[in-house]
Amino acid sequence: MKPSSLSCVLLRLFIIVTTCSISSITTVISDDVVDITGDLVRNGGKYYIIPMEGSDYPTPTMRGRIKLTDSIYGEKICPLVVVLDPSDDKLGDGFYFSQLTRQLYLDSSNIRIDSGPPVGECEASTSWTIPDAEGEAPSNLITTGGGIYGVFQVVRYRPISLDRVFRPPTYMLQYCPETCFNISLYSYNGLTRLASSGDTPFEFGFLKAQASNEI
Ligand SMILES: *[C@@H]1O[C@H](CO)[C@@H](O)[C@H](O)[C@H]1NC(C)=O
Repeated sequence: MKPSSLSCVLLRLFIIVTTCSISSITTVISDDVVDITGDLVRNGGKYYIIPMEGSDYPTPTMRGRIKLTDSIYGEKICPLVVVLDPSDDKLGDGFYFSQLTRQLYLDSSNIRIDSGPPVGECEASTSWTIPDAEGEAPSNLITTGGGIYGVFQVVRYRPISLDRVFRPPTYMLQYCPETCFNISLYSYNGLTRLASSGDTPFEFGFLKAQASNEI
């Protein structure tokens, strides 16, 4: 049989996928937290939170952007809150993921998420928190004003599939004051927020915030 150009393309794709999956498998064996390119996430590093839906291959669907906002419908608010902006043309805001321990790379638990020191009129900390995880909205929605201790953890959304096909590593977020609550998207007052209730955990990937990623 004469090799068609399609089989050449498939062969090349196979090589790419095989190469990628080998590198992803080495990062997934441990409890390491990795960004969507497979690099380890740095303790204290600044990352965009890229919403993803994992069922699509090769690139998960991205829907919207996570941002911190200081106003809702034109009204200033304090503390600031975390929202999902449905527009896909920006990366949202970069957030710092950190642990009080001094290791270079992030562990999956006891994570603090914040935007650095407060700027502007609202002097509440920018550290993510949930006022009452077992309460009803808005008290079970992610807001800011939290302390210095990390109360979040990230969990790999799905183990690497048996077919060894590479897909960007994605995570779900949990809020763990003592027991852990899955964080899901939640519609409140016409805005999409993050909440400690909901059926489908919010799936996201880490994208390192750096000058070349600003769009
Ligand atoms: C969190 O979500 C995962 C995946 O959907 C599920 O298996 C687990 O039971 C959930 N945990 C809680 C505490 O709801």
